[in-house]
Amino acid sequence: MKPTILRFDSIDSTNLEAMRQAKAGAAEGLCLVAREQTRGRGRQERTWHSPIDAGLYFSILLRPRIEISKWPLISLISALAVSDALMSAGNLRTDIKWPNDVCVGEQKLCGVLAETVETKIGPAAIVGIGINLNDHAFPDELKEAATSVEAATGSKPDPEEMLAAIIKALRERYEFLHQPDSVEHTIREWCARSSYAFDRRVRVSLQDESFCGTTCGLESDGALRVEDDEGNVRVVRAGDVTALRAASH
Ligand code: BTN
Repeated sequence: MKPTILRFDSIDSTNLEAMRQAKAGAAEGLCLVAREQTRGRGRQERTWHSPIDAGLYFSILLRPRIEISKWPLISLISALAVSDALMSAGNLRTDIKWPNDVCVGEQKLCGVLAETVETKIGPAAIVGIGINLNDHAFPDELKEAATSVEAATGSKPDPEEMLAAIIKALRERYEFLHQPDSVEHTIREWCARSSYAFDRRVRVSLQDESFCGTTCGLESDGALRVEDDEGNVRVVRAGDVTALRAASH
């Protein structure tokens, strides 16, 4: 992956632009960065609030040469790469909430939207990353659930340094994904970096139902294993996970 950076003052969504460019034949490594997004997109069809200069909003185009079974791991390595970079460039220790929210304590600092797109020269993956740099423009409904690099570190982050650190970390983890044994290693690293991997009481919200249970690791495609209160292990591939307070004894 050889990064080429394209910058925009304003765009609908860097993920949408990356899809358009992928369809037009753009090469792997194209990285689109915007100061603001007018239609920023999150997981589960949500909106990603993207006011000017309040966050780092970017997408990277990948053309993976790996088995299709490994593709879901791209979203996990992206969250790991952000976590690596926040540590190396900001000295900030983060948690990863399944599947790929980067958090400080219970508050979300960064979201990842990984999508796939068919193109004339083969399937492509788009990794979209949104990091809250400051909380000046957080809408009221986000104030409790979200945080920013500035709030978490107490100093103004340098977005360029952060972008370079994330691209470097993502490049290393992505190249490693092309090696044998990368699945086990990636799953192990994700579990080591996430307090949600094991023994966490959670509520899982699926499209038509929700249930409570205790997390018990990841499947090899990154799906979350949750033992429900009847003792059945359920495998969660899409949905939202919320931490519950552990029962007091
Ligand atoms: C989520 O947590 O729901 C994922 C949020 C992903 C937001 C980023 S910002 C850059 C890129 N462009 C988008 O429209 N979304 C992603």
